[in-house]
Amino acid sequence: MQVIICPNEQRVGEIGAARVAQLAAKVGPAVVIGVATGSSPLATYAELAARVRAGSLDLSQASAFALDEYVGLPITHPESYFDTIRRTVTEPLGLDPAKVNVPDGREDGLETAGQRYEDAIKAAGGVDVQILGIGSNGHIGFNEPASSLSSRTRMKTLTQQTREDNARFFDSIDEVPRYCVTQGLGTILDARSAVLVAFGEGKAEAVAAMVEGPVTSMCPASVLQLHKTATIVIDEAAASGLKMADYFKECYENLPAWRKLDV
Ligand code: GLP
Repeated sequence: MQVIICPNEQRVGEIGAARVAQLAAKVGPAVVIGVATGSSPLATYAELAARVRAGSLDLSQASAFALDEYVGLPITHPESYFDTIRRTVTEPLGLDPAKVNVPDGREDGLETAGQRYEDAIKAAGGVDVQILGIGSNGHIGFNEPASSLSSRTRMKTLTQQTREDNARFFDSIDEVPRYCVTQGLGTILDARSAVLVAFGEGKAEAVAAMVEGPVTSMCPASVLQLHKTATIVIDEAAASGLKMADYFKECYENLPAWRKLDV
């Protein structure tokens, strides 16, 4: 696990995008990108969009798979992850909407939604670069604490903590859905590389548990310790609970030339 500590949120976006671009360029224009919702990756998406506009990143044949979706919100609802991904990823990055996939959160297809999504990821050849945020309780996607570390895409029940965290996007907490369909931790581990971005004091505890705690389903993001190529890009506030912070800074400052990021 590579941990990069940045001075501020804007730099998290720049470094996060640089790492995603570096990994995507190795695959080529038909790269398969895993995308997350939430506020954490927004600066990363903006930086990636700037690279696409400048012609330094070619995503012309790229496809994308979102991590998760609420159950029961129509896809036209502005807070559905289908619409959120359209606004924050598909349009700014100029992706072909037909190649952007979001789990199906309709109530009438829930029994098969997980397997259908797994099949679609497989048919696309698997995810090359997975972009992730982290919930304040350590979730990735919507894999809440106590999720199986080998889980696949399936329906999950949201915790009260997550519903409270996400109530800011709705008029009241009563409008926040109770259920979701999310890629599993096993699904996320299958991505060839992962880049997790986080900033702010509110993520410090979750980040410390993810990076330095035991691998445990009680901090679902800690499963990334088992990933071959995971990069964690965080600001000083999100890094404030890390015992190894100085070591991580030393490692980044002394990266070999072939690993240095184009920022
Ligand atoms: C959401 C999403 C996650 C996201 C997390 C953090 O509920 N399901 O994919 O990473 O919570 O969100 P934010 O980045 O807004 O803090």
